[in-house]
Amino acid sequence: MPEYNVPQISQDVYWVGVKDWNRRMFDALIPLPQGTTYNAYLVVGKEKTALIDTVNPGFEQELAGKVDQVANLDDVDYLVMNHAEPDHASAIPYVLNVSKGAALVTTEKGAKMAQVYFGVPEERIRIVADGDTIDLGGKTLKFIEAPWLHWPETMFTYLVESKVLFPCDFFGSHTAAGFYDDEVEELIPFAKRYYGEIMMPFNKMGKKALDKIDGLEIEIIAPSHGPIHRNPARILEAYGKWTAGETREKVIVAYVTMWNSTEAMIKAMVETLLGEGIEVALYNLVNADLGDIAKDLVDSRAIVLGTPTVLGGMHPQAIYAAHLVKALRPPLKYGVVLSSYGWGGGALKQAGEILGPTKIEVVDALEVHGPPSADDEERIVEIGKQLASKIRQG
Ligand code: FEO
Repeated sequence: MPEYNVPQISQDVYWVGVKDWNRRMFDALIPLPQGTTYNAYLVVGKEKTALIDTVNPGFEQELAGKVDQVANLDDVDYLVMNHAEPDHASAIPYVLNVSKGAALVTTEKGAKMAQVYFGVPEERIRIVADGDTIDLGGKTLKFIEAPWLHWPETMFTYLVESKVLFPCDFFGSHTAAGFYDDEVEELIPFAKRYYGEIMMPFNKMGKKALDKIDGLEIEIIAPSHGPIHRNPARILEAYGKWTAGETREKVIVAYVTMWNSTEAMIKAMVETLLGEGIEVALYNLVNADLGDIAKDLVDSRAIVLGTPTVLGGMHPQAIYAAHLVKALRPPLKYGVVLSSYGWGGGALKQAGEILGPTKIEVVDALEVHGPPSADDEERIVEIGKQLASKIRQG
């Protein structure tokens, strides 16, 4: 058995998580260019020991080996489940089987999920509510209900004496690089990408959670993915902006083209926006990374969607992007749709049907026959200027 790296992140608080360097997809949806981590933590009090969250399936032995380097897994008294998603909770049956006396600590909703997903017997579960505490002997765990970050049962755990917050998914990043925030050069881009993918649909709940922890003294934020924030101010400030839906004078342009006509329309639009001093993030949907798009949706004020008409509707890649925008609920205020058709339109109608229920104000939409003519390009410049004016208004 190798000697594992089990860093102490605070007095008697140990990282016992794992790095999954090679994972490349999450939830069959989110690309992971740098892998990810499943962070779990062991808190050793004078009388009791608590394990905070577990790891993804397949890493149970590594978790056990790491815990055993500090204290016997058999003797863990509490297993805190901040979140029931399997990347953190699937090793619960393994741990409870080894630690025969351990109680699973979770919210009321978490208790139901633990029974349904992991077959945890009711008598092994201790339900906690907002503000409840558990004394480990000189170390107090305080529980903070924080629903929908990222499922309805989620909570944070706060280690009172050490001022360490364990928020599970919240404040996380999908990267296996580095250990502390200051060791990861691209921390904010990775955190933002993760925020766009996972937290953005729950902006309001995120803001509520931030308000709730506002009065807490926090020296370390120890999330369940990515680097540990030993300088928490930076990520707290970023989350303040993202949960508030603060946008920039920025447009995300997402398009797909078959014979370059839609691309020509997009180019005219991009040149106009850049000329108006508007920041542009451009993605060809054929080879774009979903995580990059999610990152730029976090603070873009407008979207331009470009699609050819294919068999009476949008190109399937554009349909996917439009549905993604609808599902992720970014703080976009304005939208423009540009489309080219060969013999009959239909893409604009479908884009309207998908984006209609969102809060995006469609500033204009243009459908042209074949490549854009000089008149069409003039019209696109007009639309671009109109969009830029709206963006500058806020
Ligand atoms: Fe990292 Fe929602 O699980």
